[in-house]
Parts: sequence; structure tokens; C-alpha cells
Amino acid sequence: MQQLLVRPENMKRIDTPELAKAYIDEQVAAIRAQVGDGKVLLALSGGVDSSVVAALLIKAIGDRLVAVHVNHGLLRKGEPEQVIEVFRNQMHANLIYVDATDRFLDKLAGVSDPETKRKIIGKEFIEVFAEEARKLTGIRFLAQGTIWPDILESEAGIKAHHNAGGLPADLSFELVEPVRILFKDEVRMVGKTLGLPDGMVYRQPFPGPGLGVRCVGAITRDRLEAVRESDAILREEFAAAGLQGKVWQYFTVVPDMKSTGIKNGKRTDDWMVIIRAVNSVDAVTASIEEVPYPLLLKIRDRIFAEVKGVNRVLYDLSSKPLATIEYE
Ligand code: XMP
Repeated sequence: MQQLLVRPENMKRIDTPELAKAYIDEQVAAIRAQVGDGKVLLALSGGVDSSVVAALLIKAIGDRLVAVHVNHGLLRKGEPEQVIEVFRNQMHANLIYVDATDRFLDKLAGVSDPETKRKIIGKEFIEVFAEEARKLTGIRFLAQGTIWPDILESEAGIKAHHNAGGLPADLSFELVEPVRILFKDEVRMVGKTLGLPDGMVYRQPFPGPGLGVRCVGAITRDRLEAVRESDAILREEFAAAGLQGKVWQYFTVVPDMKSTGIKNGKRTDDWMVIIRAVNSVDAVTASIEEVPYPLLLKIRDRIFAEVKGVNRVLYDLSSKPLATIEYE
């Protein structure tokens, strides 16, 4: 059994648990054939693609998969905990958890240019991962959550797809890409069939730089906390209202701007939380979700009651174009 690098033209869309099961069996055999008794390294972000790759590899080679979860401090509330719970506690993965929050936030301090922020996050991520990889010995393989649209986009020149994650030259690995020929919906079907939780398999798109691009301007710990806490409230209330899985992407943003407020008869100078909820098919265009007013008011009340340093909540009415989905 060989791993396929190109999706066969006549390949049936994997849209049933039976087809997913057959794919899983094939891939488990292909991984075993490729890796033999070797070890495989994986950067496990907790996103759909890397999580499905991890679950496939655990099934195929157990603790010979070494999964590294780098917490860059810009993840959503509960995400690192979920990775540890699902992969270490439930699937008994060989998981290395690195809390690099301080390292990332120190590097990002005072940096307000969005592209510079993105570059710092990307570069630091590779450095942290490379440091972990150098501590390990005897690993010949690197698993990646490359999916078929990544290949198509890089062929079309839309997205640069970095083989081996842009790692430094001293770290050279043979790639293992068990979801390479799948479309996103197929990856989800495979993940569900492998027993991953719905919260992981059907999660909304989340940018690589994470909450970093939603803490608009130079990231500070207090505003980052306000983004994380308000985002958690928004997600909880959307889930309770049955909107999870229906609205394409929803999140909160805290710009680097204060406004006047009043609390206990005294003037305040605090942050604002902007709520964004959009629908899209491919992120190229997006329309806003018409969130019911009572739900918005409930979210506002919770943000005021539970999130420190906030005196204003706004709802973003902008579609894409003219606005982009993220703020920077
Ligand atoms: P925009 O803001 O361009 O976003 O309308 C379109 C989609 O892409 C996501 N996005 C990113 N994803 N790294 C990513 O992995 C990024 O730097 C990034 N910026 C935006 C965004 O969340 C939306 O789904």
C-alpha cells in the first residue's frame, strides 16, 4: 500500500462513514508500509487537519507518533486543554506540550504592523518547533496536515505551500501526508469516523496567528485576555442558541482604542469589544449573519459582567467586500 500524492480523477467523494472507514484502513496500511518501525513527528495545532492526521497516525503506529503542541498564547479559551484531554488522556498519544506564551508575547510587544505580527508568529512557531525536534533523536519522518485544496492553491500560485513546514535545513525529514488527497469535508468525515469530538471536527475556520490578529494593533496581555474571554462567551451563547455549525465564522475583536464610559457614577476609560459573525462559502466573499437582537443583548450583558476593562460592545454590520473578515 503506497501513499497517493495526487487525487485520482475518479475518486469518490468520502461522504459516508463507510467510505471514511475504508480510507482509514487504507491509510493505516500505507503509513505502516512507509514508516516501518520508525518514529514520526507532528506539529499538532488542534485544528481539523493536524488533529485528523494525529488520530490516523496514533491508529497506525501508536506512541511512535511524537506530537508537539505549541501553545503560542494566541489560542482560544480551552483549546490547549482540549488537545491535551483528547490526545494525551483519551488517545494516549505521545504528546509534548510546550507553553511558549511568554516567548511569543515578549517578541510581539509593541509591534502593531499586522504583517510584522504575522511574520513574528510564524517564525517563532518554527523556532519553537525546531527546538523541540532537535531534542528528539531517531526521528526520520514528519507528518503534515496538507490537504488537496492546499496543493491546488499552491499550483495556482495563490498560496505558498511549504514542504516540511519551512524547517531549518539541519532538520530534514521524509514527509507523511495521510490527508493530502482529501477535501476539507472529507477530512471532517474521516475525523468523525476516527472518533474525534465534534468541537474539533466541525470547528469554524481559525487563522494561524490566532487571537493575535483580533487583538488589533500592538498586543497587550489585558486586551488579549478581553478577546479570549469575550470570544468564549460568544461561542458559548452561539452554541446554546443553536448557531454553532450554522454560522460560518464568528468571533470578537478588541481594537487598540479606548472610549469613555461610566461605572458607579465615575468616568471610565476602557476597551470596546466588537462582535463579528459572517457567512461564507470560501472566505472570498462574506455576508453578515442577522443575529437575533435578544441574543446580542444577552452576549453584551455577559461581556459587561464577565470581561474586565470593557465598557462598550458593538456589532459589525460589514460584509466582504468592502470589509475583510478579520480586522488585520
Ligand atoms: P479575510 O480577513 O482575508 O479572511 O477576509 C479570510 C479567511 O482567512 C482567514 N485568515 C487567515 N488564516 N492565517 C490563516 O491561517 C492568516 O494570517 C489569516 N488571515 C485571515 C480568516 O479567518 C478567514 O477565514
